[in-house]
This record gives sequence, structure tokens and C-alpha cells, in this order.
Amino acid sequence: MTLNERSFRDAMARFATGVTVVAAVDPAGNPCGMTANSVASVSLVPPMVLVCVDQESSSHDLIMDAGAFAVSVLGTEHEGMARRFAGKSQEERFPGLRYETGTTGSPILEGALAWLDCRVWKCMTAGDHTIVIGEVQDCGAREGAPLVFFKGSFQRPVW
Ligand SMILES: Cc1cc2nc3c(=O)[nH]c(=O)nc-3n(C[C@H](O)[C@H](O)[C@H](O)COP(=O)(O)O)c2cc1C
Repeated sequence: MTLNERSFRDAMARFATGVTVVAAVDPAGNPCGMTANSVASVSLVPPMVLVCVDQESSSHDLIMDAGAFAVSVLGTEHEGMARRFAGKSQEERFPGLRYETGTTGSPILEGALAWLDCRVWKCMTAGDHTIVIGEVQDCGAREGAPLVFFKGSFQRPVW
């Protein structure tokens, strides 16, 4: 067995996840965000979630500076959004998209399967990422099928 970046990526790629957009507001008041699947539930009381953000990503400092973020959980119909928030430049992500503003001021994508509006509670450096723990201020959910990421591809499981 050889542990290297490839074997680590291959192993983690077998861990099927949901897909989210983690979004905040930049210092100029514009919405910004990125596709993220490293979201996890942390605590029930008080409700907390975490997301691991690459320190090299443009979203990293924007989320830190905002002190708040919203997680929008994507449905099967949102693959285009997932690609846009992972591939396009920050300026090309939100134009034309409908979103609401949560109590923290963070953008919540219209039609999200679920959403969590969070204030940053604590951040911890972990290798090349930062674990951002958010205390959930508000959340919501609707019925629908989730977009899934598995082995490097978006999947639409029959629900
Ligand atoms: C399905 C999927 C999940 C991703 N999850 C994360 C994640 O959890 N954390 C992260 O830092 N980047 C993640 N990325 C990569 C970012 O979305 C991507 O690097 C994006 O371009 C970052 O943009 P930015 O540098 O403008 O912030 C993911 C990408 C995809 C396609």
C-alpha cells in the first residue's frame, strides 16, 4: 500500500457526498461563493456545521472577512450551478441567479434543497485547508432529490 496524493484522492472519491454552494458577501456587498462537498454536521445543541475551505481559494478570505456564510444544498437540477461555482471566476458565479438573503446577510440560492445560514464560530488550520465551523442561525428544507458527487462525477440517483 502506498499513501500519496493520488491514493488519498482515490479513497476519498469513494465517499459519496452531497453538493453545496457555500456563499458569503464580499466587502463591497457582492455575493460570492464556491462549490463545496466537505460540509458536515458538527453539533446539535447549539446547531453547528463545518466546511473545509482551501486556503488558496478566493472564497477563503471572503468567508473569513464576512464572518458568516450560508450553505445551499443542491438538488439534481443544480449540476450547472455546482459547475459554475467550481469553475467560473467569482464575478461570473452569481449574475443571473436568484437568491435570498439570510439573517446573517449571506446569500441563499433559490430552489436549494436545504439551506443553513451560519455565523463563523471558530476556524482551525488543517494542512492546506481551514476548517470553518459555523453556528447555524436559521435553516430550511424542501422535498426533492439531492445532487451527489462520487468518484469525481456528479450523479443523479433515482430517488
Ligand atoms: C463537487 C465539488 C466539491 C468541492 N468541495 C470543495 C470543498 O469542500 N472545499 C474547497 O475548498 N473546495 C472545494 N471544491 C473546489 C472549489 O469549488 C473550487 O476550487 C473553486 O474554484 C473555488 O473557487 P474560488 O477559488 O474562487 O473560491 C469542490 C469542487 C467540486 C466540483
